[in-house]
Amino acid sequence: MAELLHHNSLRKFTFSSIKKTRTKGIQKLSWRPVQGVLTEDIRRAVVKNGKDSLDISRVVNGMWQTSGGWGRIDRDNAVDAMLKYADAGLTTFDMADIYGPAEDLYGIFINRVRQERPPEFLEKVRGLTKWVPPPVKMTSSYVRDSINVSRKRMDVASLDMLQFHWWDYANTGYLDALKHLTDLKEEGKIKTVALTNFDTERLQIILENEIPVVSNQVQHSIVDMRPQQKMAELCQLTGVKLITYGTVMGGLLSEKFLDTNLNIPFAGPPLNTPSLQKYKRMVDAWGGWSLFQALLQTLKGIASKHGATIPNVAVKYILDQQAVAGSMIGVRLGLSEHIQDSNAVFSLALDEDDISSIQEVTKKGKNLLKVIGDCGDEYRRA
Ligand SMILES: NC(=O)c1ccc[n+]([C@@H]2O[C@H](COP(=O)([O-])OP(=O)(O)OC[C@H]3O[C@@H](n4cnc5c(N)ncnc54)[C@H](OP(=O)(O)O)[C@@H]3O)[C@@H](O)[C@H]2O)c1
Repeated sequence: MAELLHHNSLRKFTFSSIKKTRTKGIQKLSWRPVQGVLTEDIRRAVVKNGKDSLDISRVVNGMWQTSGGWGRIDRDNAVDAMLKYADAGLTTFDMADIYGPAEDLYGIFINRVRQERPPEFLEKVRGLTKWVPPPVKMTSSYVRDSINVSRKRMDVASLDMLQFHWWDYANTGYLDALKHLTDLKEEGKIKTVALTNFDTERLQIILENEIPVVSNQVQHSIVDMRPQQKMAELCQLTGVKLITYGTVMGGLLSEKFLDTNLNIPFAGPPLNTPSLQKYKRMVDAWGGWSLFQALLQTLKGIASKHGATIPNVAVKYILDQQAVAGSMIGVRLGLSEHIQDSNAVFSLALDEDDISSIQEVTKKGKNLLKVIGDCGDEYRRA
């Protein structure tokens, strides 16, 4: 970490919060942390960089769950459900070009909002998408054509946020792509350029190239605290925010999995979604099912004390972390619904006892930064 975040290596930053001083002949950048930009509404936060900014709801509806593997999604029921989430104040949706029908559903949804809700409601709705291209040559026309597909599917003139994913750092085409995305932003086709699954080293390079990314979407949960080890420090220095996924670990961090034993075949609830399978692997890498049960019991104790639920505690703990603007909760639109519980996160305040009892358990887990690597490295292992 020291070499990555060596203060001299951040010398190109021009953020107003960074002040140059000289100590014993070594140029040192002293800084005051860039504060999280929360809006008056505690349920919303602003992500910004320079003149670009976007306010989002702090609990974001994740739409990977529409892409197959989580049950059959009925188009009309899904759009009705999106309206219900938005009506309840959960007005921000996260998609990707590769999430099956997600962007198309948003296109239908946003048209219903335009027709059936007042203009001030439309103002609050946000559609964040991702672009996950193969690591081919990133020409201006390739980037433009790809972004136009998402604009068309989502039926918006300008994408609220385009989060960019890259598979292979050996190929520096990611910088070309981000420069073209910045041009499209200047043209008004994108409001904010952002990242997903980038590591700290590459985020720093991107910022040094003066690409004004506002956020990085990363896996972050009570089990996966990797973003707080290196990434959050750079975010704090530069004002870039984190939007988190895997925060309820596909539902593993819920009462449903409390007091279950997945070590015995068929004994527990089935791991029948791609998220549950993904995050069960995380549990295995971190410390195994017994330690995870100890964590669930601790979380249950905290939840009961506050009249809350395990997912409430899991999400609030991450929303309270340094640099986190928003946390995603995946939605199985029209199949299951957690609107009330998701909103209950905002009336929960965790106290010092809660935090230390969580840390008492999590310190028994392995350091995932050492086991897996920095944010997103799980997508880049050979
Ligand atoms: N950038 C990336 O690489 C990346 C990767 C993964 C995900 N994501 C994003 O993150 C979003 C979330 O996906 P995820 O895989 O991380 O899933 P997740 O949010 O950890 O899990 C969602 C599941 O948790 C359960 N759940 C949610 N709230 C609950 C509550 N209050 N009580 C009980 N159970 C609850 C629900 O299961 P039931 O529906 O069965 O009740 C829901 O389907 C995705 O949609 C996507 O937008 C991004």
